[in-house]
Amino acid sequence: GRVGTGHTRAKAILVGEHAVVYGEPAIALPLASLPMRATARREDGPLTLESVLYSGTLADAPEVLAAPRAAIEATLDHLGLPHHGITLSTESTIPAARGLGSSAATAGALAHALADLVGRTLTPQEHFDLVQVGERVAHGNPSGLDARTTASTEPVWFQAGEIRSLDLALRAHLVVADTGVHGRTRVAVADVRSFRDRHPARGAELVAALGQITRDTVDDLALDRPQDLGARMTRAHGMLAELGVSSPELDRLVGAALAAGALGAKLTGGGQGGCMLALAADATSAGTIAAALRRAGAARTWLHRTDARRPA
Ligand code: MEV
Repeated sequence: GRVGTGHTRAKAILVGEHAVVYGEPAIALPLASLPMRATARREDGPLTLESVLYSGTLADAPEVLAAPRAAIEATLDHLGLPHHGITLSTESTIPAARGLGSSAATAGALAHALADLVGRTLTPQEHFDLVQVGERVAHGNPSGLDARTTASTEPVWFQAGEIRSLDLALRAHLVVADTGVHGRTRVAVADVRSFRDRHPARGAELVAALGQITRDTVDDLALDRPQDLGARMTRAHGMLAELGVSSPELDRLVGAALAAGALGAKLTGGGQGGCMLALAADATSAGTIAAALRRAGAARTWLHRTDARRPA
């Protein structure tokens, strides 16, 4: 019979994570090298999911799939489909719980696959609303940044639930490195809230300063100013660390990247584990930095060209 398919991808937040929860802007990049493909097909029996993390009935899926599961159930209701007689599957190399948006990418790809199964195309708003059902399960108060960015094929400016495209002239390389430690977005988001409760003035100052870094980054991207962007990234890391969302592993990788010649480095995503980003001036430097990061304990690294979407 008919098979529905859906596609999304991982994302890396360049600047603005956590501050975005308080209404500040953020800039995020889709990672084309980490795609997510989902399929949905009709098959007698219970609603089933086949993925790298788990294969079995959706009702028995482990906690790490709670967010996609909630989004799948919301999508079935939205489309008027029964909660049985469908087999879902995902194929992806996006590491789970590393701040690269795997839960939003999984939920979004599956929502599209289900819609496609019944010959429908989700609007961007439908996609957003359904993925957000899952993201709220994942960490209570999601800004919507992951839901929007994992559906985008271009770098985006995000604020208050909406995205717009960016003028991108920057020719640099990003090294993404996985600490190998699970990120803890829910705890990290709660810890930032508690920092703000305990230190209202400093908390507000840090969130505003992170927002300003994001605004200034727009010109760095448009005017190809890698040195300035790198310095801003490293400053943002310091502020995020003060808010309590770094970790010893993240700090070690940031230090190793800078020592290996990175123009700047910072954690990306929810933090307290997960991934970091380093900015490199050229491909040679990116290779040197990636090797240094692996020596410093990174479980994996990926290279991303900031101008990957530009025609040659
Ligand atoms: C998580 O990828 C990004 C955070 O800013 C949380 C959110 O935006 O909802 C930490």
